[in-house]
Amino acid sequence: MKHLLEIGDLDRTELEGVLDTAEHFVEVTQREIAKVPALRGRTVATVFYEDSTRTRLSFEGAAKRLSADTLTFSLKASSVSKGESLRDTAKTIEAMGVDAMVVRHPSAGAPHRVASWVDAAVINAGDGWHEHPTQALVDVFTLRSHRGRGLDGLRVGIVGDVKHSRVARSNTLALALLGARVTLIAPPTLLPPSLEGWPVQVSHDLDAVLSELDVVYLLRIQRERISGRGPGELFPSLREYTARWGLTAERAARLAPDALVMHPGPMNRGVEIAHGIADGPASLVTEQVANGVAVRMAVLYRLLGGGGEPAGVPTE
Ligand code: CP
Repeated sequence: MKHLLEIGDLDRTELEGVLDTAEHFVEVTQREIAKVPALRGRTVATVFYEDSTRTRLSFEGAAKRLSADTLTFSLKASSVSKGESLRDTAKTIEAMGVDAMVVRHPSAGAPHRVASWVDAAVINAGDGWHEHPTQALVDVFTLRSHRGRGLDGLRVGIVGDVKHSRVARSNTLALALLGARVTLIAPPTLLPPSLEGWPVQVSHDLDAVLSELDVVYLLRIQRERISGRGPGELFPSLREYTARWGLTAERAARLAPDALVMHPGPMNRGVEIAHGIADGPASLVTEQVANGVAVRMAVLYRLLGGGGEPAGVPTE
Protein backbone atom coordinates (compact mmCIF):
# COMPACT_ATOMS: atom_id res chain seq x y z
CA MET A 1 0.00 0.00 0.00
CA LYS A 2 1.64 3.24 -1.20
CA HIS A 3 -1.24 5.63 -0.42
CA LEU A 4 -4.56 5.48 1.45
CA LEU A 5 -6.98 7.45 -0.70
CA GLU A 6 -10.22 5.49 -0.28
CA ILE A 7 -11.51 2.34 1.38
CA GLY A 8 -11.39 0.62 -2.01
CA ASP A 9 -7.58 0.69 -1.71
CA LEU A 10 -7.96 -2.10 0.88
CA ASP A 11 -9.29 -5.62 0.62
CA ARG A 12 -10.72 -7.33 3.70
CA THR A 13 -7.37 -8.86 4.69
CA GLU A 14 -5.55 -5.53 4.41
CA LEU A 15 -8.29 -3.69 6.30
CA GLU A 16 -8.21 -6.26 9.11
CA GLY A 17 -4.41 -5.97 9.07
CA VAL A 18 -4.69 -2.22 9.80
CA LEU A 19 -7.11 -2.94 12.66
CA ASP A 20 -4.78 -5.60 14.10
CA THR A 21 -1.84 -3.18 13.94
CA ALA A 22 -3.99 -0.53 15.65
CA GLU A 23 -4.57 -2.95 18.55
CA HIS A 24 -0.81 -3.01 19.17
CA PHE A 25 -0.74 0.76 19.17
CA VAL A 26 -3.63 1.05 21.64
CA GLU A 27 -1.33 -0.75 24.05
CA VAL A 28 1.46 1.72 23.20
CA THR A 29 -0.80 4.73 23.80
CA GLN A 30 -1.61 3.36 27.27
CA ARG A 31 2.05 3.14 28.36
CA GLU A 32 3.48 5.66 30.79
CA ILE A 33 5.79 6.85 28.01
CA ALA A 34 3.47 6.49 25.04
CA LYS A 35 6.12 6.74 22.35
CA VAL A 36 8.01 4.27 20.15
CA PRO A 37 10.87 4.91 17.71
CA ALA A 38 9.18 3.17 14.77
CA LEU A 39 9.24 6.20 12.43
CA ARG A 40 12.27 8.06 13.78
CA GLY A 41 13.80 10.14 10.99
CA ARG A 42 10.59 10.22 8.94
CA THR A 43 8.50 13.38 8.43
CA VAL A 44 4.72 13.64 8.22
CA ALA A 45 3.01 16.82 6.97
CA THR A 46 -0.65 17.61 7.63
CA VAL A 47 -1.99 19.60 4.68
CA PHE A 48 -5.51 20.73 5.52
CA TYR A 49 -7.47 23.05 3.23
CA GLU A 50 -10.49 22.65 5.55
CA ASP A 51 -10.87 23.03 9.29
CA SER A 52 -10.47 19.98 11.53
CA THR A 53 -10.07 19.16 15.19
CA ARG A 54 -10.12 15.36 15.47
CA THR A 55 -8.42 14.26 12.26
CA ARG A 56 -5.56 16.74 12.24
CA LEU A 57 -4.73 16.44 15.93
CA SER A 58 -4.94 12.65 15.93
CA PHE A 59 -2.64 12.38 12.89
CA GLU A 60 -0.15 14.78 14.47
CA GLY A 61 -0.37 12.92 17.78
CA ALA A 62 0.04 9.59 15.98
CA ALA A 63 3.12 10.79 14.11
CA LYS A 64 4.72 12.13 17.30
CA ARG A 65 4.03 8.87 19.18
CA LEU A 66 5.84 7.04 16.38
CA SER A 67 8.75 9.53 16.79
CA ALA A 68 8.23 11.04 13.33
CA ASP A 69 8.79 14.76 12.79
CA THR A 70 5.70 16.75 11.87
CA LEU A 71 5.04 19.75 9.64
CA THR A 72 1.74 21.59 9.75
CA PHE A 73 0.43 23.45 6.71
CA SER A 74 -2.06 26.07 7.78
CA LEU A 75 -4.24 27.28 4.92
CA LYS A 76 -5.04 30.67 6.44
CA ALA A 77 -1.34 31.49 6.97
CA SER A 78 -0.11 30.00 3.68
CA SER A 79 0.82 31.32 0.24
CA VAL A 80 -2.43 29.92 -1.16
CA SER A 81 -3.75 33.42 -0.37
CA LYS A 82 -1.23 34.68 -2.98
CA GLY A 83 -2.58 32.31 -5.60
CA GLU A 84 -0.27 29.30 -5.17
CA SER A 85 -1.81 26.21 -6.73
CA LEU A 86 -2.44 22.88 -5.01
CA ARG A 87 0.23 21.26 -7.18
CA ASP A 88 2.88 23.87 -6.35
CA THR A 89 1.94 23.74 -2.67
CA ALA A 90 2.25 19.94 -2.61
CA LYS A 91 5.56 19.96 -4.48
CA THR A 92 6.89 22.69 -2.16
CA ILE A 93 5.99 20.71 0.95
CA GLU A 94 7.49 17.54 -0.51
CA ALA A 95 10.74 19.36 -1.30
CA MET A 96 11.19 19.89 2.45
CA GLY A 97 11.80 16.16 2.86
CA VAL A 98 8.34 14.92 3.66
CA ASP A 99 7.65 11.16 3.65
CA ALA A 100 3.87 11.34 4.07
CA MET A 101 1.22 13.99 3.43
CA VAL A 102 -2.13 13.86 5.17
CA VAL A 103 -4.44 15.85 2.89
CA ARG A 104 -7.88 17.28 3.56
CA HIS A 105 -9.52 19.33 0.82
CA PRO A 106 -13.05 20.54 0.01
CA SER A 107 -12.79 19.13 -3.54
CA ALA A 108 -13.39 15.42 -4.14
CA GLY A 109 -10.31 13.83 -5.68
CA ALA A 110 -7.79 16.44 -4.50
CA PRO A 111 -5.71 13.89 -2.48
CA HIS A 112 -5.67 11.62 -5.56
CA ARG A 113 -4.24 14.50 -7.61
CA VAL A 114 -1.62 15.18 -4.93
CA ALA A 115 -0.68 11.48 -4.99
CA SER A 116 -0.09 11.74 -8.74
CA TRP A 117 2.32 14.66 -8.27
CA VAL A 118 4.49 13.60 -5.31
CA ASP A 119 6.57 10.58 -4.33
CA ALA A 120 5.51 10.86 -0.68
CA ALA A 121 2.75 8.61 0.68
CA VAL A 122 -0.59 10.43 0.59
CA ILE A 123 -3.42 9.83 3.04
CA ASN A 124 -6.89 11.17 2.34
CA ALA A 125 -8.10 12.96 5.47
CA GLY A 126 -11.43 13.85 3.84
CA ASP A 127 -12.11 15.11 0.30
CA GLY A 128 -15.33 16.95 -0.34
CA TRP A 129 -18.36 14.66 -0.36
CA HIS A 130 -16.23 11.71 -1.50
CA GLU A 131 -14.40 9.74 1.22
CA HIS A 132 -12.85 9.91 4.68
CA PRO A 133 -11.18 6.49 4.89
CA THR A 134 -9.39 6.86 8.22
CA GLN A 135 -12.66 7.91 9.93
CA ALA A 136 -14.17 4.65 8.69
CA LEU A 137 -11.15 2.69 9.96
CA VAL A 138 -11.54 4.37 13.36
CA ASP A 139 -15.23 3.50 13.44
CA VAL A 140 -14.94 -0.17 12.47
CA PHE A 141 -12.00 -0.52 14.88
CA THR A 142 -14.12 1.00 17.67
CA LEU A 143 -17.01 -1.37 16.95
CA ARG A 144 -14.75 -4.42 16.76
CA SER A 145 -12.96 -3.51 20.00
CA HIS A 146 -16.14 -2.67 21.87
CA ARG A 147 -17.90 -5.88 20.82
CA GLY A 148 -14.80 -8.07 21.20
CA ARG A 149 -15.64 -9.82 17.94
CA GLY A 150 -16.06 -9.22 14.22
CA LEU A 151 -18.81 -7.30 12.48
CA ASP A 152 -20.33 -10.10 10.35
CA GLY A 153 -24.12 -9.70 10.33
CA LEU A 154 -24.07 -6.50 12.42
CA ARG A 155 -27.04 -4.28 11.48
CA VAL A 156 -25.90 -0.66 11.14
CA GLY A 157 -28.20 2.26 10.34
CA ILE A 158 -26.42 5.34 8.96
CA VAL A 159 -28.82 8.21 9.53
CA GLY A 160 -29.03 11.69 8.05
CA ASP A 161 -27.16 13.76 5.51
CA VAL A 162 -25.74 10.92 3.41
CA LYS A 163 -25.66 13.09 0.30
CA HIS A 164 -22.99 15.46 1.62
CA SER A 165 -21.18 12.87 3.73
CA ARG A 166 -17.75 11.44 2.92
CA VAL A 167 -18.02 9.56 6.22
CA ALA A 168 -21.16 7.74 5.05
CA ARG A 169 -19.50 6.50 1.86
CA SER A 170 -16.29 5.30 3.56
CA ASN A 171 -18.16 3.73 6.47
CA THR A 172 -20.60 1.93 4.20
CA LEU A 173 -17.74 0.40 2.21
CA ALA A 174 -15.69 -0.55 5.28
CA LEU A 175 -18.66 -2.00 7.16
CA ALA A 176 -19.78 -4.01 4.13
CA LEU A 177 -16.24 -5.31 3.60
CA LEU A 178 -16.34 -6.67 7.15
CA GLY A 179 -19.74 -8.31 6.67
CA ALA A 180 -22.03 -5.77 8.34
CA ARG A 181 -25.48 -4.98 6.87
CA VAL A 182 -25.90 -1.26 6.28
CA THR A 183 -29.18 0.65 5.97
CA LEU A 184 -29.07 4.29 4.92
CA ILE A 185 -31.87 6.22 6.62
CA ALA A 186 -32.63 9.70 5.31
CA PRO A 187 -35.18 11.82 3.51
CA PRO A 188 -34.85 11.37 -0.27
CA THR A 189 -33.38 14.89 -0.53
CA LEU A 190 -30.41 13.88 1.67
CA LEU A 191 -29.52 10.78 -0.34
CA PRO A 192 -27.20 10.81 -3.39
CA PRO A 193 -29.04 10.88 -6.74
CA SER A 194 -27.76 7.34 -7.44
CA LEU A 195 -26.87 4.61 -4.98
CA GLU A 196 -25.72 2.22 -7.68
CA GLY A 197 -22.84 0.16 -6.35
CA TRP A 198 -23.56 1.03 -2.72
CA PRO A 199 -23.97 -2.25 -0.77
CA VAL A 200 -26.93 -0.91 1.23
CA GLN A 201 -30.63 -0.96 1.90
CA VAL A 202 -32.48 2.35 2.10
CA SER A 203 -35.24 3.59 4.38
CA HIS A 204 -36.84 7.01 4.67
CA ASP A 205 -38.45 6.14 8.00
CA LEU A 206 -36.19 5.95 11.07
CA ASP A 207 -39.04 4.88 13.36
CA ALA A 208 -39.82 1.89 11.14
CA VAL A 209 -36.31 0.40 11.37
CA LEU A 210 -35.10 1.66 14.76
CA SER A 211 -35.74 -1.52 16.75
CA GLU A 212 -33.92 -3.68 14.15
CA LEU A 213 -30.58 -1.84 14.46
CA ASP A 214 -27.53 -2.92 16.45
CA VAL A 215 -25.81 0.40 15.74
CA VAL A 216 -27.23 3.84 15.00
CA TYR A 217 -24.58 5.92 13.24
CA LEU A 218 -25.67 9.55 13.10
CA LEU A 219 -24.34 11.97 10.52
CA ARG A 220 -23.87 15.66 11.05
CA ILE A 221 -26.25 18.03 9.30
CA GLN A 222 -23.63 19.91 7.31
CA ARG A 223 -24.94 23.43 7.51
CA GLU A 224 -21.85 24.78 5.70
CA ARG A 225 -22.39 22.50 2.67
CA ILE A 226 -26.11 23.16 2.37
CA SER A 227 -25.93 26.90 3.06
CA GLY A 228 -26.68 29.09 0.06
CA ARG A 229 -29.58 26.86 -0.92
CA GLY A 230 -31.10 27.04 2.56
CA PRO A 231 -32.06 23.97 4.55
CA GLY A 232 -35.67 24.50 3.47
CA GLU A 233 -34.81 23.04 0.07
CA LEU A 234 -33.63 19.74 1.58
CA PHE A 235 -35.91 19.48 4.62
CA PRO A 236 -38.49 21.88 6.03
CA SER A 237 -36.51 23.04 9.10
CA LEU A 238 -34.01 21.81 11.67
CA ARG A 239 -36.90 21.28 14.08
CA GLU A 240 -38.69 19.11 11.51
CA TYR A 241 -35.46 17.21 10.79
CA THR A 242 -35.03 16.41 14.47
CA ALA A 243 -38.65 15.37 14.77
CA ARG A 244 -38.34 12.83 11.94
CA TRP A 245 -34.68 11.76 11.79
CA GLY A 246 -33.02 12.92 15.02
CA LEU A 247 -32.04 10.44 17.75
CA THR A 248 -34.17 11.95 20.49
CA ALA A 249 -34.42 10.50 24.00
CA GLU A 250 -37.82 9.09 23.10
CA ARG A 251 -36.42 7.25 20.08
CA ALA A 252 -33.35 6.06 21.96
CA ALA A 253 -35.69 4.41 24.48
CA ARG A 254 -37.02 2.24 21.65
CA LEU A 255 -33.60 0.93 20.61
CA ALA A 256 -32.60 -2.64 21.40
CA PRO A 257 -31.14 -2.79 24.94
CA ASP A 258 -27.53 -3.30 23.79
CA ALA A 259 -27.71 -1.05 20.71
CA LEU A 260 -24.80 1.35 20.23
CA VAL A 261 -24.78 5.00 19.12
CA MET A 262 -21.99 6.54 17.05
CA HIS A 263 -21.23 9.94 15.51
CA PRO A 264 -18.03 11.05 13.73
CA GLY A 265 -18.20 14.55 15.21
CA PRO A 266 -18.48 17.42 15.36
CA MET A 267 -22.04 16.96 16.64
CA ASN A 268 -25.01 19.29 16.31
CA ARG A 269 -26.39 18.49 19.74
CA GLY A 270 -30.14 18.84 19.82
CA VAL A 271 -30.39 18.39 16.03
CA GLU A 272 -29.27 14.91 14.88
CA ILE A 273 -28.53 13.70 18.42
CA ALA A 274 -30.00 14.64 21.80
CA HIS A 275 -27.58 15.92 24.47
CA GLY A 276 -28.25 13.06 26.87
CA ILE A 277 -27.80 10.41 24.18
CA ALA A 278 -24.47 11.83 23.02
CA ASP A 279 -23.12 11.46 26.55
CA GLY A 280 -25.15 8.39 27.52
CA PRO A 281 -24.06 4.78 28.15
CA ALA A 282 -24.82 3.61 24.59
CA SER A 283 -22.64 6.30 23.03
CA LEU A 284 -19.23 5.35 21.57
CA VAL A 285 -18.40 8.94 20.59
CA THR A 286 -15.54 9.37 23.08
CA GLU A 287 -14.16 5.90 22.25
CA GLN A 288 -14.18 6.84 18.55
CA VAL A 289 -12.06 9.92 19.27
CA ALA A 290 -9.70 8.04 21.62
CA ASN A 291 -9.13 5.29 19.05
CA GLY A 292 -8.30 7.87 16.38
CA VAL A 293 -4.69 8.13 17.47
CA ALA A 294 -3.94 4.37 17.51
CA VAL A 295 -5.68 3.75 14.19
CA ARG A 296 -3.80 6.61 12.52
CA MET A 297 -0.55 5.32 14.05
CA ALA A 298 -1.34 2.01 12.34
CA VAL A 299 -1.96 3.71 8.98
CA LEU A 300 1.27 5.73 9.16
CA TYR A 301 3.24 2.71 10.35
CA ARG A 302 1.98 0.47 7.56
CA LEU A 303 2.60 3.13 4.90
CA LEU A 304 6.02 4.23 6.13
CA GLY A 305 7.40 1.60 8.44
CA GLY A 306 6.70 -1.72 6.77
CA GLY A 307 3.69 -3.99 6.62
CA GLY A 308 4.29 -6.28 9.61
CA GLU A 309 2.89 -6.15 13.10
CA PRO A 310 4.86 -3.82 15.38
CA ALA A 311 5.36 -6.45 18.09
CA GLY A 312 8.37 -5.79 20.25
CA VAL A 313 8.69 -2.15 19.26
CA PRO A 314 10.63 -0.87 22.25
CA THR A 315 9.48 2.06 24.33
CA GLU A 316 11.80 5.06 24.02
N1 CP B 1 -14.76 13.49 12.16
C1 CP B 1 -13.94 14.45 11.65
O1 CP B 1 -13.41 14.33 10.55
O2 CP B 1 -13.77 15.51 12.49
P1 CP B 1 -12.82 16.77 12.20
O3 CP B 1 -13.47 17.55 11.09
O4 CP B 1 -12.78 17.53 13.50
O5 CP B 1 -11.47 16.26 11.79
